[in-house]
Amino acid sequence: MDKFQIVGGKRLVGEVNISGAKNAALAVLPATILAGGKCRIENIPDIQDVHMMLEILSLLGAKIRRLNKTTYEIDTTWIRQLEVPDEMAKKMRASYYFLGALLGRHGFAQVALPGGCDFGLRPIDQHIKGFEALGAECENKSAVVTVTTKGLHGGSIYFDVVSVGATMNVMLAAVKAKGLTILENVAKEPHIVDLANFLNLMGADVRGAGTDVIKIRGVEKLHGCDYSIIPDQIEAGTYMVAAAATHGDVLIRNVIPKHLESISAKLVECGATVEEFDDSVRVSAEGRLLCCKIKTMPHPGFPTDMQPQFAALLSAAEGVSIISESIWDSRFRYVGQLLRMGATIDVEGKSAVIVGIPHLVGASVQADDLRAGAAMVIAGLSAVGKTTIENIHLIERGYEDILGKLRALGADIKRIEDTQGAESKQQSTAG
Ligand code: EPU
Repeated sequence: MDKFQIVGGKRLVGEVNISGAKNAALAVLPATILAGGKCRIENIPDIQDVHMMLEILSLLGAKIRRLNKTTYEIDTTWIRQLEVPDEMAKKMRASYYFLGALLGRHGFAQVALPGGCDFGLRPIDQHIKGFEALGAECENKSAVVTVTTKGLHGGSIYFDVVSVGATMNVMLAAVKAKGLTILENVAKEPHIVDLANFLNLMGADVRGAGTDVIKIRGVEKLHGCDYSIIPDQIEAGTYMVAAAATHGDVLIRNVIPKHLESISAKLVECGATVEEFDDSVRVSAEGRLLCCKIKTMPHPGFPTDMQPQFAALLSAAEGVSIISESIWDSRFRYVGQLLRMGATIDVEGKSAVIVGIPHLVGASVQADDLRAGAAMVIAGLSAVGKTTIENIHLIERGYEDILGKLRALGADIKRIEDTQGAESKQQSTAG
């Protein structure tokens, strides 16, 4: 397995283009099943998770043509298989969207319980509760979930927790269900709105996405359409933090600045400058950054998928920072790696207290998961000395061409062959 080697201390300067949103693409791609026709999807990020999703779609019977690096034509007229092979489903959290999409079109689906980044328990009870309220029968045998129905109908669902996955999955199942479905206490992330927009372009009637209540009036038939995925909020946020942490000056292009507000606000609190333009943001920083307090929340709050990257930045900020994680039970595994770089961090339950030191020091570390890996890259870029990062396949599953993009900004980062770590490759699951 390859590693990244970073020589830290170089300011990032220049422009970077943000790719399509991973977590939107991972829902829109299975949603094409509902079209029963041809969809042309643009701005699909060129990442491992997307390739896996396309592989599953093709195995189910979809005909897929790559029109260019980021555009695919997906024809789901003939779907012949309704079971996602276990070994594929388990590798990716988002495979659970095949439950909603296949149930919505074919009334049956079988998917092994998804893997994904290890943040503690990751139940799917809210997905199941939603499917059952629409008239599906659900069975979970040996971690393989089977959902089946003789006909879905509208229903009212009040989610017990705000869940991105459950909101999107139940939307997928409901668009063709007979009658009105009302989803309350739903997630409001940008990718929820993106999925709703895509479903509506296919002929669905989904209203209220982006608010607490989504109303879906079932339609009999959907059709293919052309669609372009929104830019990736978290990829953009990661480059914003990298720019600030290296005291750089970077124009981050192809973004929706509104989606970045919670991230921009924290960077400004830390003393960075953030300028917003129509579809780009410029982040620059001079001098030592300041500490801040962060509490992760569902959108529009501060995203949990950005807290590891901020922890890397705050490790060398002046003063004492506190990060409270309120979405996942255990998302501080990466702290052990930052400690190897000299950080002073205490984790107490779901909070981390970071006492800023003047600068991190390069070390040999590993990516524990996708965003933890992004944090290691930021830590390495801002540290004094050389950092090597193992398990980079976990990073590359979610960040398109991270190496090329960082090098274009002046980072001293390269891929090196790991001759010893080949056997220690973590079983890769993401999302
Ligand atoms: N939850 C339940 N029951 C459910 C579903 C969720 O209790 O049925 C709980 C979870 O245990 C968690 C909370 O609800 O405590 C939120 O989970 P959510 O369902 O929103 O997360 P997810 O859909 O599994 C997606 C992203 C994650 C991101 C979270 C939160 C994808 C593929 N994954 O996961 O992204 O952290 O939303 O925003 O969309 C990443 O991109 O690095 C990543 C991990």
